[in-house]
Amino acid sequence: LDNGLALTPPMGWLTWERFRCITDCKKYPKECISENLIRRTADRMVSDGYLEAGYQYLGIDDCWLEKERSSEGRMVPDKERFPNGMKAVADYIHSKGLKFGMYEDYGNKTCAGYPGVLNHEKVDIDTFVEWEIDYLKLDGCYIDPEKMDEGYPSFGKILNKTGRPILYSCSWPAYQEDAARKPNYSSIAEHCNMWRNWGDIEDSWASVVHIMDWFGDNQERLAQHAGPGHWNDPDMLLIGNFGLSVDQARVQMAVWAILAAPLLMSVDLDTIRPEFKEILLNKDIIAVNQDPLGKQGSRVWKKQGQASKNHLEIWNRELHDGSNAVAFVSTREDGSPYATTFDFYQMKLKDGDYEVHDLYKDEEIRYLKSGEEFEVRINPSGVKFYKFIPKNSKAALQDSKTDT
Ligand code: DGJ
Repeated sequence: LDNGLALTPPMGWLTWERFRCITDCKKYPKECISENLIRRTADRMVSDGYLEAGYQYLGIDDCWLEKERSSEGRMVPDKERFPNGMKAVADYIHSKGLKFGMYEDYGNKTCAGYPGVLNHEKVDIDTFVEWEIDYLKLDGCYIDPEKMDEGYPSFGKILNKTGRPILYSCSWPAYQEDAARKPNYSSIAEHCNMWRNWGDIEDSWASVVHIMDWFGDNQERLAQHAGPGHWNDPDMLLIGNFGLSVDQARVQMAVWAILAAPLLMSVDLDTIRPEFKEILLNKDIIAVNQDPLGKQGSRVWKKQGQASKNHLEIWNRELHDGSNAVAFVSTREDGSPYATTFDFYQMKLKDGDYEVHDLYKDEEIRYLKSGEEFEVRINPSGVKFYKFIPKNSKAALQDSKTDT
């Protein structure tokens, strides 16, 4: 969508993956979807360096509404959990230099059963503008997916005429991918800043692998539609929660960077362990994700193991300065780190000499000469993630300048 927003993949924090639809603030005061959760997350995003690293949007997902609209037909935030209303939440978020994300659903109801926007489009957009939101995720429960090809664009048009820049995140294709007729991604990219393509991520390694496989298997259809202003969205980052080891969290961060995916954390920032925080704040990897060329990378090589599951994959993304970000992902779960070598063809690198930087900084800078093989040793369900900088390139010159 050409509205000047999301020129690089949006970065921020969203409630859903970690906090779901927890609404009982008496039993779960730290976790319920509430003003308190948003305020303490806003504080952390600023004090702990997330905003500075680029995580800008702070978003509330489902379960923020009262079950009924007001007598005037307006959306009403849950009165106990948002006692001061949404404008107050927006003001707090903006006072911290962050941007405010909200959630609604294009159907009669949200997926969790709260009032949806259907037949209330105009008044709801007016309300969002009054609340000064900056980002809207529009989900697709309780509506016939056939109606989305018209519905999402027409809602988006009203949203973009308000004069307030509001990033438009559509769940449109996620509800059409399993139907007989595949989503029309040209239209989706024209009308949305980002879009969920497929099923929800869950807090497990199996879910990350499932999503990586799906994005790899469908990359021919998807990757061409990503670029400044419009991005595929493989869903939120699980990093720091219950289901991923440190190595597995590194895989998600690396592959999401290659995919030019929105980086939306969903984690308790008060209690996140330092090793996970370090992954989320890795500047070099964020720079890959935010690369101004905006070209989505792809899975360029794979090897299958037992039960024809991929167990070794190479993902490669071209960057604006002529270098490549290359992730070597192992989904093997057997025992020790696994050493192997790759040639230029497998890594899909242009012929030449390269300086190779480990983006997780476990290794010293390495040099790869034209025609040589490159050796990596990858932990079980882990990744090695490098930037390959061609010798004598613009990237190499820039790099040596910043080193001195
Ligand atoms: C389905 C979406 O895909 C999820 O990300 C989340 O927004 C839930 N709905 C909320 O009900």
